[in-house]
Amino acid sequence: MVSRKASRVRKVLLWAQPVRVPMRICVIGAGYVGLATGVMFGKLGHQVVCGDIDPARVKTVSSGKLPFYEPPLEKELSKLVKSGRLTATSDCVSAARTSEFVFLCVQTPSLPSGRIDIRSVKNASGSVGKALKKSKDYKVIVMKSTVVPSTTDSVVLPILESHSGKKAGVDFGLCMNPEFLQEGSALKDSMEPSRIVIGSMDKRAGDMLSKLYAPIKVEKIRTDLRSAEMIKYASNTFLATKISYANEIANMCVRFGIDSDTVLRAAGMDPRIGRLFLKPGLGFGGSCLPKDVKALKDIARQKGYKSRLLPTLLTINEMQPVEGIQLLESEIGSVRGKRIAVLGLAFKGGVDDTRETRAVPLVTGLLARGASVVAYDPMAMGNFIKLMPTIEYASSAGECLDGADGCIVQADWPQFRKLGRKEFTRMKRAVIVDGRRFLDPAHIETSGATYLGVGYGLARPGKVGKS
Ligand code: UGA
Repeated sequence: MVSRKASRVRKVLLWAQPVRVPMRICVIGAGYVGLATGVMFGKLGHQVVCGDIDPARVKTVSSGKLPFYEPPLEKELSKLVKSGRLTATSDCVSAARTSEFVFLCVQTPSLPSGRIDIRSVKNASGSVGKALKKSKDYKVIVMKSTVVPSTTDSVVLPILESHSGKKAGVDFGLCMNPEFLQEGSALKDSMEPSRIVIGSMDKRAGDMLSKLYAPIKVEKIRTDLRSAEMIKYASNTFLATKISYANEIANMCVRFGIDSDTVLRAAGMDPRIGRLFLKPGLGFGGSCLPKDVKALKDIARQKGYKSRLLPTLLTINEMQPVEGIQLLESEIGSVRGKRIAVLGLAFKGGVDDTRETRAVPLVTGLLARGASVVAYDPMAMGNFIKLMPTIEYASSAGECLDGADGCIVQADWPQFRKLGRKEFTRMKRAVIVDGRRFLDPAHIETSGATYLGVGYGLARPGKVGKS
């Protein structure tokens, strides 16, 4: 019998082994998904070219650097660039023309209506269509950007066919292969995914993509294009639902003087519920969860279905930062005229991404109540200043706390766990609101500060909502 350790070693060796027949792979869009995909295939032994219309991005990637903060991915990218196995170019047509697989990994941001903006998808599809026209070989085009069901077959496919004069399913293959990586663990999530979803128009393309992923030993779900698109939305909207549900329960717990952490942990032990993504906080941000909930709500409405769940979980999310402010006010009274420190501006700790960060509604709420705000983040300050240029910024967490009447920690950066007496004594009033439930209450209290956590009702039963 093979021991568990031996089977683990074998599993690692399997995905770490370079493939026997290296393929030429083109990735269009040098963002999180595109670069994680490119680095993953490079590590599996393929020759990768990353195409992006932004010359500044191409220059950054060509020098082995990332245009965002993700250290483990950058380390591997740098090695691949040095060895010549990964290159970058702004000539997306040539990059696609010389490749056997072309992955479309461009952004699909939210429009004010909630609908996704697919201009980049159309543009990239046009480039790939031109490349198909110039090439004699069969290629597999793989849609990886998050797009609402029917986009691949009703938008991408006609563009590819009209620009190339070729037939999908005959002259080239078309697949939809959603990405499930989290920022902060992009490479690990790409190399060790929980599943690989392969939606394809025709069997040949699906088989080829499945073979490309063969070194990654995980279940591969073969399906059609629209189901693959929907799987991504079903996954992300469920994660968002779990978080909003946890926040709803936490808001109730705190009013009963109960610690929601114990409640949600115990509830999550039921395998039908599951413990992950049940952590209360100031709400979910990032480039995906809020955008995907809005987009699914919008596309469902266009199809004649008015979702009742999705708008509600968005409303809970919008209101959640107010819980943090009320919690602080339950201890220090109104924030009007007070100096409030906000630690952590990224949408979560460990990243420099501020898209849909809950720090924006949090700071806006504090300012609307008449507080003055001083803010700090280890990596995301440059991005946040563009969103809120007029507030005060500090150059360290300690400086941020200097003279503050209270502090709300918005992102779970590990270094904030180390803050102690030295920093807290700089505050006018040492009150710390843990907006992500990751700090150690005992450490904070023994360091001379008052700890308040979102959904943590034990210490001060019944206080929230009474001020
Ligand atoms: C999310 C999904 O988790 C990935 O599976 C998906 O591939 C990705 O979107 C995407 O579509 O590209 P990401 O945007 O990196 O990944 O962020 P998460 O780690 O999911 O966190 C989202 C937000 O939820 C953060 O603001 C985080 O602080 C918050 N959160 C997360 C909670 O408030 N509670 C939790 O229990 C978990």
